[in-house]
Amino acid sequence: MDNPQLLRIQENLKHLKLTRTTQSLENLLQDAGKQEMSYSDFLDRLLEEEVSLKQEKQTALNTSLAKLPYVKTLESFDFSFQPSIDVKGIRELATCLFIERSENVVFLGPPGTGKTHLAVALGLKAIHKRYRTLFISAAGLIADNVS
Ligand SMILES: Nc1ncnc2c1ncn2[C@@H]1O[C@H](COP(=O)(O)OP(=O)(O)OP(=O)(O)O)[C@@H](O)[C@H]1O
Ligand SMILES: [Mg+2]
Repeated sequence: MDNPQLLRIQENLKHLKLTRTTQSLENLLQDAGKQEMSYSDFLDRLLEEEVSLKQEKQTALNTSLAKLPYVKTLESFDFSFQPSIDVKGIRELATCLFIERSENVVFLGPPGTGKTHLAVALGLKAIHKRYRTLFISAAGLIADNVS
């Protein structure tokens, strides 16, 4: 890459911290040439890739800040194994509207039946919707408030 314009573009992309485009600029330019992209298509693809990387990084950071005991998703929850659970109700919770309404959700049941799994899965949905999320035990919450 000895094209001075390309070098300048790379430098400016780095300066602007546009990480993904810095890495993929040459491919992006080649594809744009081959596919005869319009200016708006080119800019659209560049920005889409950049924004999706930033969102992935933000989600990863917020997931680690949430201190989940493990990462399990709603998609990996086997509802057929737990027929007493109201699937529609859980799907409704996954919209996170209960957070907007400042409502609490309590899962009750014997040990090992998926309460924490569901709580974690809802936490992940909340993180994807950009809510600040924290996993904490009831004992931890009380201790935090006391100290
Ligand atoms: N229906 C299910 N589908 C998939 N995995 C499940 C299901 N139920 C439980 N598990 C898995 O079993 C393990 C125990 O579940 P979980 O941690 O949610 O239990 P719990 O109800 O919170 O128990 P405790 O009351 O002891 O805290 C987890 O790894 C969880 O992913
Ligand atoms: Mg649990």
